[in-house]
Amino acid sequence: MRHPMVAGNWKMHGNRAGVAELLEGLRNMPLPRGVEVAVFPPTLFIERAVEALEQGGISVGAQNSAIQSEQGALTGEVAPEQLAEVGCKLVLIGHSERRQILGETEEVLRRKFAAAQASGLMPVLCIGETLEEREAGKTLEVVGRQLDSIVDEFGAAVFADAVIAYEPVWAIGTGLTATPQQAQDVHAAIRAQLAAKDAEVAAGVRLLYGGSVKAANAAELFGMPDIDGGLIGGASLNADEFGAICRAAGN
Ligand code: 13P
Repeated sequence: MRHPMVAGNWKMHGNRAGVAELLEGLRNMPLPRGVEVAVFPPTLFIERAVEALEQGGISVGAQNSAIQSEQGALTGEVAPEQLAEVGCKLVLIGHSERRQILGETEEVLRRKFAAAQASGLMPVLCIGETLEEREAGKTLEVVGRQLDSIVDEFGAAVFADAVIAYEPVWAIGTGLTATPQQAQDVHAAIRAQLAAKDAEVAAGVRLLYGGSVKAANAAELFGMPDIDGGLIGGASLNADEFGAICRAAGN
């Protein structure tokens, strides 16, 4: 039995006043039973989010972490062990904005994934195809390669302590959501690919969908058999909207 997860990726949004208001809204939000809820604030606000939310059952994650788990000479980076020390539980690895805009390679992502797990952070591995790749019929090939980059190096068992988020790049921040069936087809393929290596891990791993999820379309997406929740961008910046999405995962 997989517990659904709904995670809010705030990206590079928020100032002190806005974050305080959002945290207050999240503290007062009724949480559905059996749904794991997490938020990923900008690094600057992680500690504040942990303080505000730790009693309330909402976990806090980081949007990025360094390629080595321990602190050290790596200007501008934040070590997974530092994140873990302040109460951070999860970290996004390989969001398309970091792959595409910041040029993070598979090699860098493998190191970040391993470093995160070494510090006890749960990686949320983000994978997904561009519009051109989808139109060329390469969706499963692209997503399969991004998954294999981790599996071939570390084995499928690492996904006993990780989450996978399928986020088609063309659906991120565009208002274009994958249809529930389009998302389900990719999720089923991801699970089958893992099952070929380790059936038990494949059956237990949470596969989140991300890309223009809102309260209005969440229930339909989360109703699909291999969609175990969502990674929410824009709609997670509003506590009421995010709360409604979390409740959709509980139904
Ligand atoms: P949107 O929900 O704004 O499309 O963003 C999705 C996303 O990138 C979450 O990581």
